[in-house]
Amino acid sequence: MGVGLESEGIRPSVRFVRRSIHSHITGLGLDAHGRARRVGGGLVGQEEAREAAGVIVQLIKEGKLGGRGILIVGPPGTGKTAIAIAIARELGEDTPFVALDGSEIAGSPRKTEVLLQALRRAMGVKVREERAVIEGVVTDIKYVKRQSPFHPYPVIGGARISLETKDDSASYTVGPEIAEQLLALNVRKGDVIVIDVETGAVRKLGKAKGRGERRYDIEVEKEIEIPGGQVKKRKEFVRILSLHDIDMSVAARRVAFSGLLALLETEREIGDEDRRHSNEIVKKMLDEGRAELVPGVMFIDDAHMLDLECYSFLTRAMESDFAPIIVMATNRGITKIRGTDIESPHGMPRDLLDRLLVITTRPYTAEEIREIIRIRADEEDVPLSDEALEALTKIGLERSLRYSVQLLEPARVIASRRGSPKVEEVDVSEAARLFADLKKSIETIERYKELMIY
Ligand SMILES: Nc1ncnc2c1ncn2[C@@H]1O[C@H](COP(=O)(O)OP(=O)(O)OP(=O)(O)O)[C@@H](O)[C@H]1O
Ligand SMILES: [Mg+2]
Repeated sequence: MGVGLESEGIRPSVRFVRRSIHSHITGLGLDAHGRARRVGGGLVGQEEAREAAGVIVQLIKEGKLGGRGILIVGPPGTGKTAIAIAIARELGEDTPFVALDGSEIAGSPRKTEVLLQALRRAMGVKVREERAVIEGVVTDIKYVKRQSPFHPYPVIGGARISLETKDDSASYTVGPEIAEQLLALNVRKGDVIVIDVETGAVRKLGKAKGRGERRYDIEVEKEIEIPGGQVKKRKEFVRILSLHDIDMSVAARRVAFSGLLALLETEREIGDEDRRHSNEIVKKMLDEGRAELVPGVMFIDDAHMLDLECYSFLTRAMESDFAPIIVMATNRGITKIRGTDIESPHGMPRDLLDRLLVITTRPYTAEEIREIIRIRADEEDVPLSDEALEALTKIGLERSLRYSVQLLEPARVIASRRGSPKVEEVDVSEAARLFADLKKSIETIERYKELMIY
C-alpha cells in the first residue's frame, strides 16, 4: 500500500498524517466494562462520547455495523477528530481505517471516484490460504560454498539445514536461492524459521525459548515457543487485503494483457469493469469459504464540506454488500447543504442523516482543559510551571483548546531564548501576544480590510 496514493488524489490513512497533534492518543481509555476512565488512552473527559465510541468499536469488531454510519457532532476543539483516531487505535492494524477530509474531497475534480476508492480501501477481505511449509527450530546450519567461474572468491552454492519441532526432526539440502535468504536473515541455531515449499520464501519467526546461546546482553529478537507437529506440514496463512488492493491487481493484469501502449495510456486506471471483476472474485472466495469480509472504517472529517452529489453517493454506498462503516465528524449545526439553498441539520440531507448514529461531544471544563494541556505538554516535552499551566488553561477556556495547545511549542522557544528550560507564565503571554487565534486574526482582517488582498 502507500504507493502512488497521492497521485490518485487520496491521502493515506490517518496513521501517517496528523500524527503530530493527536500523537498522545492511544485508545479510548475504557475499562473492561466499557466505562470511560476519566483519563485514559491519552483522552480526558468526554466520557459519554468515548463510551459510545467503545460500543461502536465492538459492533465493528463483531461485523454488525455494515451499511450504517456514525456522525460525531460537537463544537470546535472538543475532540471529535481525536475520538475518531482513538477508534482507529482500538480497532488495531487488522481493521482497515481510511481517513479523508471533507474539504479535500469537495475540492477534487473526481469527487465520487475519490470516495469510491476510499470506500474500497476501507473494506477488508480476510483471505485464508493453506500452504505447504517446512517449519521448526534450527538445530544445525551449514553453508556450501562453491568456486564461481566469474568471481575470484567462493559463492554460496546452497546449504544443509536441520530443523526440529517438539515432535519431529528433519534435515534438508537447499539451493542457493534459499541459502542466500538464510544468510541475509542471519539465521542461526536456535532460530525458528518457516520456509514456503512452493515459493522458497524464508521467514524468521523469532528465537526459540531456551534454545541457542544468549548472543547479546540486550536481545531484541522475539522469544517464541518451539512449534509442535511435523517439520513439513500444511499451514494456514491469513492475509488481509482491501478491495482496492484487489482492484489494483485486476487492473494491472488487464493492462498487462492489453500491451505496452495501453500501459502508457491508462496509467493503471481502475475501471468499473475491473471493480465488477474483483467483486466477483471476492464473492467466489466468500462462497467457497476461503475468505471473509472485514468491514473497516472510512472516516470523513469536516463532513459538512461535502455536497449533495457526495452525500447521495455515500447514502447509496451504505446499501451495498461491500460497504465499510462510515464515520463522519462535523462542528456545524443547522446550515445549508453545500451548493444548495436547503437548510438541514449539519448541512446533510435527511435520507443520509436517517442512517447515522450520532455521538456528541461537549465543551470542556477548566479541569479537563488543564489535564489535556498537561498531557500535550508532556507529549511535546515542554516543561511547564504551574502558573504557565494555569495561564494556558485560561486561554483554552476563553479562546479555544486548539489555540492554547498550539501555543506550547512557541512558548518553549521563547522560554529557551530567555535561557530558561521551563516555560513560565511570561512565556505563555508572550506567545499569545505574538500568535493570533482565529478570532483575533479575523478582527485583524476586518480592521485592515482595504489593505488586504483577496
Ligand atoms: N478529550 C481529549 N483528551 C485529550 N486530548 C484531546 C481531547 N479532546 C481534544 N484533544 C486534543 O485537542 C486538540 C483539538 O481536538 P480535535 O482536533 O480532536 O477537535 P475537533 O473536535 O476535531 O475540532 P474541529 O471541530 O475544529 O475539527 C487535539 O490536539 C486533540 O488531540
Ligand atoms: Mg476535527
